Amino acid sequence: MAAGSDLGILKEKVAKARSLTILTGAGISADSGVPTFRGADGLWRTFRAEDLATPEAFERDPRLVWEWYNWRRELIATKNPNPAHEAIVELERRCQEFWLITQNVDGLHPAAGSTKLSEIHGNIWKVRCTGCGVISENLEIPIPILPTCQLCHALLRPHIVWFGESLREEDLRRCDEALRACDLLLIIGTSGIVYPAAGFASVAKHVGALVIEINLESTPQSDLVDLSLQGRAKDLVPLLL
Ligand code: APR
Repeated sequence: MAAGSDLGILKEKVAKARSLTILTGAGISADSGVPTFRGADGLWRTFRAEDLATPEAFERDPRLVWEWYNWRRELIATKNPNPAHEAIVELERRCQEFWLITQNVDGLHPAAGSTKLSEIHGNIWKVRCTGCGVISENLEIPIPILPTCQLCHALLRPHIVWFGESLREEDLRRCDEALRACDLLLIIGTSGIVYPAAGFASVAKHVGALVIEINLESTPQSDLVDLSLQGRAKDLVPLLL
């Protein structure tokens, strides 16, 4: 748990922030019961996320990849936003200039009410056609395997940015803008090892922003940030209000 004085200082910084940017990762959803990627509960059958969330895995065995996504969709459908997601909605409401960047694909931020956000790794409730590229919302559980596009009948894939794929230009541009404009960057529940998000702390530091990390444990970013608070997101984030 963070020291009370650290929290007091941080609360004041948050209240005074002119432009606040927040970056979240799987740790914030862990408090809603969604398994993290690199935690002990991140495995499905014997597979790691890194083995399934790739274009090569989908090309080799789309059925297996869709089975994994069906399992994740089923699991996530039973989860709800927690007090950390809700506190972020309140920060968006209070702060004039605000942007939320999330690596999470579970949709819990928009479910909580966040509107100024980039879901840079996509959203598990959206599908994209591998033929015509059309993106649509799909809430089916389970998705009938193999799903095909109603328009062109090509195979559908999850609308997720997989390992080895680039982020959408529009998201990169918006994130860069938010990182360069902010005077406070909060980094919540990310292991800080997957790029480009792992580089966002450096960008914000470079423009002189105060960078604060909230995580259960220390990360490769901890030495770089101005303050590293250790604890659960659901306990600490609401204390910033
Ligand atoms: N509160 C705060 N932090 C937590 C909590 C919690 N309750 N539980 C776990 N954490 C922290 C862990 O200590 C870890 O640093 O959350 C982090 C989760 O790390 P990862 O599982 O690596 O998740 P993330 O950083 O979001 O992964 C980035 O990698 O697998 C890809 O595309 C996927 O978006 C994902 C990306």
